Amino acid sequence: MADLDDVQDGKNYHLDKPHQSAAFKLKGSNALDWGMKNRLARIFNPNDGRTVMLAIDHGYFQGPTTGLERIDISIVPLVPYADALMVTRGTLRSSIPPEISTPVVLRSSGGQSILKELSNELIAVDIEDAVRLNASALAVQVYIGGAHEHQSIGNLTKVVDAGNRHGIPTLGVTGVGKELVRDAKYLGLATRICAEMGAHFVKTYYCEKDFARVAAGCPVPLVIAGGKKLPELEALQMAYEAIHEGAAGVDMGRNIFQCKTPEAMIQAVRAVVHDRETPEKAYDLYLSLGNIPIGR
Ligand code: 5RP
Repeated sequence: MADLDDVQDGKNYHLDKPHQSAAFKLKGSNALDWGMKNRLARIFNPNDGRTVMLAIDHGYFQGPTTGLERIDISIVPLVPYADALMVTRGTLRSSIPPEISTPVVLRSSGGQSILKELSNELIAVDIEDAVRLNASALAVQVYIGGAHEHQSIGNLTKVVDAGNRHGIPTLGVTGVGKELVRDAKYLGLATRICAEMGAHFVKTYYCEKDFARVAAGCPVPLVIAGGKKLPELEALQMAYEAIHEGAAGVDMGRNIFQCKTPEAMIQAVRAVVHDRETPEKAYDLYLSLGNIPIGR
């Protein structure tokens, strides 16, 4: 029963201090609602505004990718090291324990395979199912210059609208067809279109020339994909350059789970992204955590 006889007048009103309402620091995100900000703050570390996302959604169009054959065995041990997990709902339900505290970025477009035109995607998850899965964000592929560019932009806008109704942010993922060049001009176009269409953060590729212009031209946080497997030092160098030129993190897949020692690699990537470690020092960390003899 409420203690109605002994209601005390509060005293600690701090009348000399204005109400604390700090701006939300994540790029381009200050005007969002509380739920959106809270979910983004689970993905991007509020201390440094950066993230190490682990992408394991490759099977949605290319089947059992090397390193992802048994997600229950190879990937689950990596999840605690990731700031977010990019994953399909099928993998989430079948192979990822629900006890994880890592936020989920749910792959929400699909509908094609490597045997057909890749840009021919549709929305592959209902917003109700995303809510049911406690998704912290939704991810949609956008194929600027692709055969189904218009349809893929439509997918993005529909998912953004659905997510907005529930306070769930959307990641726009720039899918680049083989015939297109991944240069700053193209990536700048594709990332900016994603942001203009309402994506709350954008995933793209790193380019050696003028990546800083791509990052500056995108008004929301940009994360880079790892792309095809590189030697570990090169992958760490790419992450380092991207961060120093304005990326807010990585959404890396093959360059982590296709390493001989993925647990060591994801920690080395974290050192670059969160601790601003040099690629060389992060590589030493990779070697020592992985018990890999120097020179291998
Ligand atoms: C597919 C994706 C993948 O999740 C992502 O590109 C894979 O990451 P990586 O290139 O680092 O293996 O978005 O289009």
